[in-house]
Amino acid sequence: MPIKVSDLSFTYAQGTPWQVGALHQLNLSIADGEFIGIIGKTGCGKSTLIQLIAGLLKPTSGSVSLDGQNFFSAKTPRFDLPKKIGVLFQNPEIQLFETTVEKDVAFALEHTPLASSQVKEQVRWALETVGLNYEKFKELPPLSLSGGEMRRVAVAGVLVIKPDILVLDEPIAGLDPKSQDGFLRLLDSFNANGTTIIMISHNLDALAEHAKRILVLEDGFLIRDASTREVLADSQFLEKHNLGSTQVGQITDGLSKCNLHLPSPPLTGQELCSALLEALA
Ligand SMILES: Nc1ncnc2c1ncn2[C@@H]1O[C@H](COP(=O)(O)OP(=O)(O)O)[C@@H](O)[C@H]1O
Ligand SMILES: [Mg+2]
Repeated sequence: MPIKVSDLSFTYAQGTPWQVGALHQLNLSIADGEFIGIIGKTGCGKSTLIQLIAGLLKPTSGSVSLDGQNFFSAKTPRFDLPKKIGVLFQNPEIQLFETTVEKDVAFALEHTPLASSQVKEQVRWALETVGLNYEKFKELPPLSLSGGEMRRVAVAGVLVIKPDILVLDEPIAGLDPKSQDGFLRLLDSFNANGTTIIMISHNLDALAEHAKRILVLEDGFLIRDASTREVLADSQFLEKHNLGSTQVGQITDGLSKCNLHLPSPPLTGQELCSALLEALA
């Protein structure tokens, strides 16, 4: 299910005094099985972009196509495409609303022709996939769970439709470090099985470890689209655009201020360790 974004622009409340031009003339393609990070300052258009990619907003101009089919063309059955894309919104746990975990996860399957035994099996699979024991959790009220568990239930509610593409809006924000780590490993395992992952995050360290490609938005423009290494190991670029830096980048800068210059900027903690050992040998 490759994604193609062509000359995509989006304006909120167009034609009113409140109109906001959120995205301007974006062009990009996403192949099957990629793991993409989207970064940029608050208000730069990240959430708008993923809603357009998921077909939840209609472009003001330009188009988004999935497997060659345009969401909003008259020829495409409008409600077929979104089933291939699972979207996890920001703070998804606030959207849990059913009385039990099982009902919440099953919600997206409600209007499908699946028999109730099949729904049950799919819910079991989704919960076990996110590391929650079906028997233990199915009857619990979602709001009685820990933050990390609630987010896993929300993810199970998206996975239950078996999407080819998983789009996540700041999925690790607000989780403790251990839950963040577990969550990112879960994404890696989906990605290893061929699921395309598109993830907005302010956590550059997490993206350095997990994403393969980074899209950088600034004031609604796509200002960079390159490999994770090219973008996140480029401390000058990150500084110029006020994007923060990775911890590895900060340590590398600190070392160079102490006259310890590493031959090429490391991207991950492991690369930093190897480069340091080599430099000190
Ligand atoms: N529903 C909305 N109505 C009007 N303007 C909006 C709406 N949602 C977002 N915007 C505006 O669109 C721009 C991009 O917002 P958004 O995509 O949410 O950015 P990000 O996710 O990068 O923080 C911002 O200027 C924001 O204020
Ligand atoms: Mg946002």
